[in-house]
Amino acid sequence: MKYSFPEHFWWGSASSALQTEGTREGQTTWDYWFAREPNRFHNGVGPQQTSTFYQHWKTDIQLLKQLNHNSFRTSISWARLIPDGIGEVNPQAVDFYNQVIDELIEQGITPFITLFHFDMPMAMQEIGGWENRDVVEAYARYAQICFELFGDRVLHWFTFNEPIVPVEGGYLYDFHYPNVVDFRRAATVAYHTVLAHALAVRAYRAGHYAGEIGIVLNLTPSYPRSQNPADVKAAHIADLMFNRSFLDPVLRGEYPADLVTLLKSYDQLPACKPEDSALIAEGKIDLLGVNYYQPRRVKCRDSAVNPQAPFMPEWFFDNYEMPGRKMNPYRGWEIYEPGIYDILVNLRDNYGNPRCFISENGMGVENEKRFIENGQINDQYRIDFISGHLTWLHKGISEGCNCLGYHMWTFIDNWSWCNAYKNRYGFIQLDLDTQQRTVKKSGEWFAATSLNNSFDK
Ligand code: BG6
Repeated sequence: MKYSFPEHFWWGSASSALQTEGTREGQTTWDYWFAREPNRFHNGVGPQQTSTFYQHWKTDIQLLKQLNHNSFRTSISWARLIPDGIGEVNPQAVDFYNQVIDELIEQGITPFITLFHFDMPMAMQEIGGWENRDVVEAYARYAQICFELFGDRVLHWFTFNEPIVPVEGGYLYDFHYPNVVDFRRAATVAYHTVLAHALAVRAYRAGHYAGEIGIVLNLTPSYPRSQNPADVKAAHIADLMFNRSFLDPVLRGEYPADLVTLLKSYDQLPACKPEDSALIAEGKIDLLGVNYYQPRRVKCRDSAVNPQAPFMPEWFFDNYEMPGRKMNPYRGWEIYEPGIYDILVNLRDNYGNPRCFISENGMGVENEKRFIENGQINDQYRIDFISGHLTWLHKGISEGCNCLGYHMWTFIDNWSWCNAYKNRYGFIQLDLDTQQRTVKKSGEWFAATSLNNSFDK
C-alpha cells in the first residue's frame, strides 16, 4: 500500500545544542556534574565529546540536504549565548547561530529552534535552578534576546523540549543533576518551568514576530492493565502527573483541577502567586511538538505505600509489563506504534485539534557496527520502526488529526546524556574517533520518503 502525506508536510529530524555542538565556554549542569561524577556516564564519556557541530555545521547542513530534510530542529545553548545565564551576550555565539540559521534557510531547510533542551547554565543552577523565580526571569530575558536576534528568520520557536524530563531526572528519579529526590521541589520546578514558558510566549506576542511559538512535550499515553476501576484510576493519575501537568497549561491555559486537588491533599503543591494564573493563561501555544518513544502501562498498586518513603508518583500506581509487549531491549523501552495515533486522537478530541507535529520518534540501538554491510549500517529495524509509526500517523491524519510533520531523533548519532554513545539513534553513523559520517540505510530510506512525500509498505 502507498502512504501519501499532505502537501508541505515537514520531514526532518531533531537534535540539541549540548548533544551535538561541543567546544563551549559557558558551563552547564552537565559539564559540572560530569567533572564531579564521570562514573555516572556510560564509559565515562562526557558532554564535550560530541559530533562537533560547532566546527562541522556547514558540511552537516549539506548532509541534511542530502537526506532531503525540509525542516530541522535544534536548540540554542543558553550557556553559549549568555555564559552566566543573565549577563553579557557572547558575540561569537550570535555569529555561530546566525550562520547556522542562514545556511539552513539558504539550503531550503526551515529551522525549528528550541530554547531549552535540558542544558541549564551552571551559574543559574548555583542560585537554585528552576526552583528560583529569578531563574525564571533570567530565562525570559534569554528568550527575548533570542527572539530579537533571530526572530526575523526563525519562524517556529519552542520554549522547552520535554520539560517533564529535568523534573523527573533532577528531582525525582536521580538521572539528572542536581539528583534531588523530593516531590514538592519537583512540583516547584515543573510549575516554574510553566511560568518561564508563559513569560517567553508573552515576550514573543509582545514583539509581534511573524512566526509561531510552541513547546515540545514527550507524551506517553497511559494505558491501564485492565478496565477494572482501580487500574483505570491508576492510569488516570499517571496521565495527570506525566502528561497533563504540561499539556493542559500550554493548550488550555490552566492545570487540571483533579491534579491540583490530589497534590493539595498530600501537601505537595508549589507556592503560587495570585498573578500566576493569568500568566499561565497567556502561555497558550500555536504549535505543539510531540515526542513519542514509548507508552506507559500501569496497574493499581499491589502493595501498601511505605509511609516513611518519599512521596512519589508511584504511590498511585505500579508499572505494568504487558505480556507479549514488543521491546527495544537496548533502551528498555516498549515499541508500540498505535500510541502515536492515540496521542493525535486525544489531541483532536479533547484539546481542540491543535496544530501539531511529531517532533521526535526514534530507536536507540547498541553496537550498530555489527550490522555493517559493504561499509554501510543496514538498519532495517529502524526503517521498520519509522514506517510502522508513520502508518499510524497516516491513519490519524486521514481521520482529521492536525499533524503537520514528522521529525526523527536524530540526524547524526549523538551524545545521549548519561547513556553517552551507548545507543545510537542517527540516520548517519558517527565514528567518534575520526568524526567520519556515513549515511545509514535508514537515512537513504528517509530521504526517498521525504522526496516522494510517501512510502510503500
Ligand atoms: C528525548 C530527548 O528524550 O529522547 C533527547 O529529547 C534524547 O535529548 C532522546 O537524546 C533519546 O533518549 P536517550 O535518553 O536515549 O538519549
